[in-house]
Amino acid sequence: IYGEKRLNSRGVNLNIRSHYDPLMRAMKQCMDTTYEARPLLAFDVATDPALVHDVTCPYDRRKTVGSVLWTSKEQAERAVDAAWAAFPRWDATPVADRAAILRRFAELMEEHMPELMALCSREGGKLLTDGVDEIREAVDFCRYYAAKAEELFGEPIQLPGPTGESNELVMSGKGVFAAISPWNFPVAIFCGQMVATAVAGNTVLAKPAEQTSIIAHRVVELLYQAGMPRDVVQLLPGDGPTVGSVLTGDPRITGVVFTGGTDTAQVINRSLANRENAPLPTLVAETGGMNAMIVDSTALPEQVVNDVIHSAFQSAGQRCSALRVLYLQDDVADRVIEILKGAMAELHVGDPRDLGTDVGPVIDEEARKGLQAHIDKLKGEGRLIAETRLDATHTADGTFIAPTAFQIDGIEALEREQFGPILHIVRYKSQELDDVIDSINARGYGLTFGVHSRNESFAEEIARRIRVGNVYVNRDIIGAVVGVQPFGGQGFSGTGPKAGGPHYLLRFATEKTVTINT
Ligand code: NAD
Ligand code: ALA
Repeated sequence: IYGEKRLNSRGVNLNIRSHYDPLMRAMKQCMDTTYEARPLLAFDVATDPALVHDVTCPYDRRKTVGSVLWTSKEQAERAVDAAWAAFPRWDATPVADRAAILRRFAELMEEHMPELMALCSREGGKLLTDGVDEIREAVDFCRYYAAKAEELFGEPIQLPGPTGESNELVMSGKGVFAAISPWNFPVAIFCGQMVATAVAGNTVLAKPAEQTSIIAHRVVELLYQAGMPRDVVQLLPGDGPTVGSVLTGDPRITGVVFTGGTDTAQVINRSLANRENAPLPTLVAETGGMNAMIVDSTALPEQVVNDVIHSAFQSAGQRCSALRVLYLQDDVADRVIEILKGAMAELHVGDPRDLGTDVGPVIDEEARKGLQAHIDKLKGEGRLIAETRLDATHTADGTFIAPTAFQIDGIEALEREQFGPILHIVRYKSQELDDVIDSINARGYGLTFGVHSRNESFAEEIARRIRVGNVYVNRDIIGAVVGVQPFGGQGFSGTGPKAGGPHYLLRFATEKTVTINT
């Protein structure tokens, strides 16, 4: 695991068991540390006891990880002042120096992998394997964006012109970016937003999700250790609407890079648009999904079930990319459902720090209640197909949801994204395929999509017609790899450009054409 330089999280993840002993030993030492997270700003902040919040473990709410001091409105405003003042200096810093900080940061994250994995489990409820994936992805983002920044912003582009005139295109940062991130990838997405905006020459106000502030605090400490100046990237833990409204309402914020719920993205969009006397902002928003998979009668049921289990239940279904609606052609449906029931009965729900656990907790009580209400409603309608057994001795004090599968009539029956281990299954007849594709497109989300078929032209035709950001054929639909499967959606699922893709940094930069009459 340590020192691997290649851009591939998936391969590394497969190696985890061979590294089991040293990693587990190092991680165990971090399992009892108590953390005190706080805003990391260009200036010192005093502790206001009214803004201190305890942080507990999703798998056992009696256990404490530590506490977090939230950012006040006044501190958020002062942080914008500092970011604004630092921008010209940072933008003038050579791109090679900015990229070097990202590379050093990546090395530090690798060195601190056991501690970060322990925190991902303790604060974020993540399985250890998910923690490895998460940190590898963050490391990949740093190295990929460092390389891309040097390639895109290193030298001005020389353009043609008449004799006696030189023309060049110069790239620079845009200004101050707010980077607002979710709890479900508290290292990868948090880092990806932060390093992409900073390496392009912007100063950054990073607002992590309330639920994973301690991880964010530790990560930003490592970023400072790597050489990032404190006024270039500042950390503002705190309540979304409070800190968020200061950031998105300030006319000096040049842009927002956001990942989270579609509703929150709409609030941010409105807040940016309502500012008076503010230049037109940049908004990059990566949001929710209502991801489907179509399985035709030529598919291999065992392979389908393996990929469905990963796609729907890995990370307790708390991935924007997770499978929510599985369309099974009638001829193969009974067989797939029979194997799926068997596989779901074998899943073990429990403590994410145990390597035998397949499904950990959901993030908090609010999430658990919302998911349980959806489950109870569908059960009340007699739609249950399969449900994994919750072992009360392992799950009593945490926020757990048993993986479930329900039969529904179509994707249009789902009012909103259910962000947890709940799979919806729809049976279709082959002559209904056009309607299936139309209804998935009409639902308006467009993040990930899967197709399972041994008929190549069938798979290609569906992949062509479906309007989503990431299509996967004959495999699972989660775990996009930086630089390999650039990730992001369309419609209600996001604005693009794709994270981990060749065009991402360009959205955070501005172009200037310089013409000189020589
Ligand atoms: P969320 O929208 O509740 O919160 C995301 C962030 O927005 C948090 O930091 C929160 O504090 C902040 N926020 C909340 N209200 C705000 C406001 N008024 N102004 C500014 N900021 C505000 O989302 P979540 O529950 O943290 O994450 C889960 C969601 O994220 C799911 O919908 C999931 O699909 C989505 N997601 C999308 C992607 C993707 O790449 N498309 C990746 C991961 C997660
Ligand atoms: N990039 C993450 C995945 O593909 C969300 O699962």
